[in-house]
Amino acid sequence: MTESTRVALVTGASRGLGLVIARTLAERGYSLVIGGRDRDALAAAAAELLGAAAAVRPVVGDITDGAVRAAMIDAARQLGGLDVLVNNASELGGVGPLLRYDVPRFSRLFPVNVGAPLVLMQLAMPLLTARRGLIVNITSDAATAAYPGWGPYGATKAALELLTRTLAAELRDEGVSAVLVDPGDMRTRMHQDAFPGEDISDRPLPDVTAPFWRWLFDQNPEAISGQRFAAQREGARWLQLA
Ligand SMILES: NC(=O)c1ccc[n+]([C@@H]2O[C@H](COP(=O)([O-])OP(=O)(O)OC[C@H]3O[C@@H](n4cnc5c(N)ncnc54)[C@H](OP(=O)(O)O)[C@@H]3O)[C@@H](O)[C@H]2O)c1
Repeated sequence: MTESTRVALVTGASRGLGLVIARTLAERGYSLVIGGRDRDALAAAAAELLGAAAAVRPVVGDITDGAVRAAMIDAARQLGGLDVLVNNASELGGVGPLLRYDVPRFSRLFPVNVGAPLVLMQLAMPLLTARRGLIVNITSDAATAAYPGWGPYGATKAALELLTRTLAAELRDEGVSAVLVDPGDMRTRMHQDAFPGEDISDRPLPDVTAPFWRWLFDQNPEAISGQRFAAQREGARWLQLA
């Protein structure tokens, strides 16, 4: 198979980190399925990516919507299959002390940050198996550190991390690989939402992770499955041991 026939699905690719990942894949000639809720923003991203990608199929909608997830998988199938699934779309769900957390908000946060990625992995598995594909799940240092105020979001990312490691172990003999990537702090809308009214201009733009993505997509997926990477820690060849 030539690289130009490869297909990747990136959720939350209308801006921020997801758009940087989609750009990296486009530069490598992948065909892309991209997702996001804002129709205009997604169309603008698709128009930009089309300059490099072999083909781009934008799928508008919330990743908690089963019809949206099915449309993403259908779009990949129509493009010929799926080599890379990137579960990037995520929500912060508010930052604040646990003792004042409105626990019913979990009923939104876990479906977005954990449930939807898991269902997408389930739906994508036949296509990924056919191409010995790679799943990339975007996590956060909030999954492993006890940052005051970040508990609910961090709990969803911790859950995603355990599911990813478990899936990688379950798939060891199936030829499908799964990795975790902590992108590090980046100047994006989500990060600004976490620090409302604060100057976050000292954080790098998500483009800072581009060298990592170029490296990752050069790796043999089966040699890195189950690993967790920190995209801004090049000194350690990006590998962050568990
Ligand atoms: N920024 C950081 O410092 C940082 C640090 C660690 C980890 N991360 C992780 O990096 C990933 C990307 O974050 P980011 O900072 O790039 O955020 P962002 O700029 O807010 O972008 C989020 C993307 O996801 C989409 N999205 C959000 N909720 C969605 C939903 N329910 N359904 C469909 N699409 C949805 C957004 O588009 P719409 O709003 O139009 O749907 C957008 O394209 C996330 O997994 C985040 O947890 C970020």
